[in-house]
Amino acid sequence: MLLTTFAVLLASALAHEYPDCSSEPLSNNSVCDTSLSARERAQALIDAMTIQEKLNLTHNNSPGVPRLGLPTYNWWGEALHGVAAAPAIVMAAAFDDPLIYSIGEVISTEARAFSNANKSGLDYWTPNINPFRDPRWGRGQETPGEDTYVVKRYIENMVTALQGGPEPETYKIIATCKHYTAYDMEFWQGNTRYGYDAKVSAQDMAEYYMQPFQQCARDTKVGSIMCAYNSVNGVPSCANSYTIESVLRGHWNWTADENYITSDCTAIQNIYTDHHAFPDRQQTVAAALNSGVDIDCGYYNPTFLPSAYEQGLFEEATLDRSLLRLYTALVKSGYFNSAESQPWRSLGWSNVSTPESEDLALQIAEEGLVLLKNDGTLPLSLPSEGNLTVLLIGGWFNATSEMQGIYAGPARTLVSPWMALNNMSNINIETIQWYESPLIKANELQPDVIVWIDATHEGAEETADRNTIKWDLMQPDAVESVATTGIPTVVVHMGEQCDDSMFFSNANVSAVLWAGYPGMFGGQAIINTLFGEVAPAGRMPITQYPTNYVNEVAMTDMGLRPDSETGNPGRTYKWYDNATVEFGFGLHYTNFTAEIIAVETTSFDIAQLPHARRPLPLPSRRSSSTSSLEVNVTNTGNTTSDYVALAFVAGEYGPEPRPRKSLVAYQRLKGVESGASQTGALNITLGALARYDVSGNEILYPGSYRIQIDVPVLATWEFELTGAETVLDHWPQS
Ligand SMILES: *[C@@H]1O[C@H](CO)[C@@H](O)[C@H](O)[C@H]1NC(C)=O
Ligand SMILES: *[C@@H]1O[C@H](CO)[C@@H](O)[C@H](O)[C@H]1NC(C)=O
Ligand SMILES: *[C@@H]1O[C@H](CO)[C@@H](O)[C@H](O)[C@H]1NC(C)=O
Ligand SMILES: *[C@@H]1O[C@H](CO)[C@@H](O)[C@H](O)[C@H]1NC(C)=O
Ligand SMILES: *[C@@H]1O[C@H](CO)[C@@H](O)[C@H](O)[C@H]1NC(C)=O
Ligand SMILES: *[C@@H]1O[C@H](CO)[C@@H](O)[C@H](O)[C@H]1NC(C)=O
Ligand SMILES: *[C@@H]1O[C@H](CO)[C@@H](O)[C@H](O)[C@H]1NC(C)=O
Ligand SMILES: *[C@@H]1O[C@H](CO)[C@@H](O)[C@H](O)[C@H]1NC(C)=O
Ligand SMILES: *[C@@H]1O[C@H](CO)[C@@H](O)[C@H](O)[C@H]1NC(C)=O
Ligand SMILES: *[C@@H]1O[C@H](CO)[C@@H](O)[C@H](O)[C@H]1NC(C)=O
Ligand SMILES: *[C@@H]1O[C@H](CO)[C@@H](O)[C@H](O)[C@H]1NC(C)=O
Ligand SMILES: *[C@@H]1O[C@H](CO)[C@@H](O)[C@H](O)[C@H]1NC(C)=O
Repeated sequence: MLLTTFAVLLASALAHEYPDCSSEPLSNNSVCDTSLSARERAQALIDAMTIQEKLNLTHNNSPGVPRLGLPTYNWWGEALHGVAAAPAIVMAAAFDDPLIYSIGEVISTEARAFSNANKSGLDYWTPNINPFRDPRWGRGQETPGEDTYVVKRYIENMVTALQGGPEPETYKIIATCKHYTAYDMEFWQGNTRYGYDAKVSAQDMAEYYMQPFQQCARDTKVGSIMCAYNSVNGVPSCANSYTIESVLRGHWNWTADENYITSDCTAIQNIYTDHHAFPDRQQTVAAALNSGVDIDCGYYNPTFLPSAYEQGLFEEATLDRSLLRLYTALVKSGYFNSAESQPWRSLGWSNVSTPESEDLALQIAEEGLVLLKNDGTLPLSLPSEGNLTVLLIGGWFNATSEMQGIYAGPARTLVSPWMALNNMSNINIETIQWYESPLIKANELQPDVIVWIDATHEGAEETADRNTIKWDLMQPDAVESVATTGIPTVVVHMGEQCDDSMFFSNANVSAVLWAGYPGMFGGQAIINTLFGEVAPAGRMPITQYPTNYVNEVAMTDMGLRPDSETGNPGRTYKWYDNATVEFGFGLHYTNFTAEIIAVETTSFDIAQLPHARRPLPLPSRRSSSTSSLEVNVTNTGNTTSDYVALAFVAGEYGPEPRPRKSLVAYQRLKGVESGASQTGALNITLGALARYDVSGNEILYPGSYRIQIDVPVLATWEFELTGAETVLDHWPQS
């Protein structure tokens, strides 16, 4: 997937055609018979094909079968964050599940409208749900952050909305969870993703790298999964019968007729050219097909499958199995139905870039901004008389498409911070040119406030990871020099992760706002927040590490736990204890208190507890039927604000070393007014309380547990589990 941004444009330029079930030759095939099951319809189509025709069809750019009236189909479509949304990293910072669902609905509506206009297919290679393990990763911005619980909530909401609801009769579009598995390195110090072998312990695999895919396959029932470039413990992901057959299809029962696997682009070729896993190309394509990879994004299958078949390297039945999955998925998408006989075919151009969808784009950007420091300078207010003079400095104050990050669709409009500010009254905007000294300009102008808006110059890209998480020397230097003037100085940190510690420790820097990649209305969201039109309530979806972190652990070290032998200090908030900004942190324009509404039971016998995916049964004071932990949140300040109630579990249970804590539930409370209270209902499942042993088994341990609300902790509830440790899920061994 090299031509990233072009892919969307390309897809819209290429004509796609729906099959014509109303006339011959296709009308004679039972694939058009809507009284049959999707599997029977797909089977009828495959039964009509010759082996030569079948050998052509496991390629992303499928030539179809003209003899049967089956048109060409391109399995490659991109819709990571659609036309109207922000990249996943900012979406995750909002901790707002219903909003993620609404955005998923907009993306699938727009995607389906494109498809109905013959401009795209019905399957999309989204979402990217590999957890953001290392701050250097070039594609971390595409993901919902580092925490598996957040990633799983995101999948549940996004994928369900993309596909048209829970277990839809007809797919709205087919979502693709990528990249399976342990994929999170592009190109780092000579290691390329195409030939990389990720060495992962069973414990880290089950507990971390596989969790998103378990959600996709077992729980959310995604239609498609993409296998990754890298190997896992010596076996290429796209020819890996352990991860595909034993875990995905076996253990997670991802076996519906329509579930199929696509390779990442060229990944089958890379098995031969980069992993050198097989002596020739025929054995390579056969291994991928035999292990259960159904589509090759690349040219290896169309080129080498025929000769591999002649050599007897796979059975025709294996090819049929792949085709059955692929065509059942298309049947289930209404591909072979008339426009009248399926529910999504009425969507059209009037459903694209609607005012409602643009409101969502602004809302998600506003909800995803995270206030990291504030000495009271924010929110800015306009003087009662005259104008406020704002000096904008930094490389991104007029950023437009940069705010979208990679894999964005073409937006109708893009609003930079400068544009949003320029639309306000009673503001004098001053800016500096690249050759001007910020300090001299600030002294000369004496603005009321200086706002520095920038991203690190070493941008992340799909094909390259970063080497540093340090701001480039000139950037903090500019901020620190203007801050010496005593003029309030506000930092807006956009783009990739880097270490803001020098801004936190500098008393002259008044405020820091993290904005990541906030999408088409990102500049509007930033200005609205700086001026208090909206109150910030986002939380960091990632750990912000100190600069030296990258020298302590190699990207190629997949281990999550601290390791005194390798010097790995640990990864993510669960295992790393010296963060510059903690995962889950975020300030407000007001103050909140939180109190857990007393629960009568504080001791539970493991033997009496229900199934792993069910909540811990919590009889509360107010209602014996509730199973949620209720938290009473009060706004003690003067500004109406949203509040994200985060619940972490910590405690003395399970094997050493123990994680610092783990997120087990969250809820975003909306518009908590000054002096008012709202009750959050936190659903804590037994699975979320479990830990993993060295073999990867998910186990509920007896011991003492603490539920902690917020970062830093505002309230704690303690309970214990008694009885014998109980395996909730036996991890399949390789
Ligand atoms: C399609 O079916 C009709 C009616 O059964 C038959 O007359 C016709 O020859 C068939 N066409 C093809 C291409 O098989
Ligand atoms: C396979 O596809 C190619 C075009 O990609 C076409 O030229 C060829 O005729 C096809 N073969 C069969 C048997 O359909
Ligand atoms: C899409 O193509 C079909 C035939 O495949 C045609 O009937 C239909 O009119 C086309 N729709 C649009 C919007 O171009
Ligand atoms: C596995 O999935 C199939 C099809 O999705 C379903 O019919 C079956 O009940 C599932 N089996 C288990 C053990 O969950
Ligand atoms: C699509 O647009 C039509 C016409 O404006 C409208 O009636 C319908 O509700 C829209 N559907 C969705 C899903 O937005
Ligand atoms: C910001 O960009 C817009 C259009 O992209 C341009 O019209 C405007 O002059 C720019 N503002 C500054 C201060 O450069
Ligand atoms: C105040 O700002 C407005 C634009 O918002 C501008 O038209 C006006 O000239 C400014 N007044 C002064 C005194 O700078
Ligand atoms: C913790 O981080 C700070 C910088 O934020 C650094 O100076 C210190 O050495 C780090 N301590 C450890 C134990 O890594
Ligand atoms: C929040 O409380 C702290 C002290 O507890 C106080 O210093 C600060 O001003 C309060 N902030 C707001 C916005 O009320
Ligand atoms: C929540 O806390 C507020 C302030 O302490 C209190 O007035 C209110 O009664 C509490 N609400 C509940 C449901 O406990
Ligand atoms: C909130 O408002 C009250 C009453 O107007 C005032 O006394 C208090 O200082 C304000 N608190 C903050 C943090 O602004
Ligand atoms: C908690 O579970 C209840 C009951 O299933 C559900 O209605 C509610 O939406 C859930 N809350 C959250 C924040 O997920």
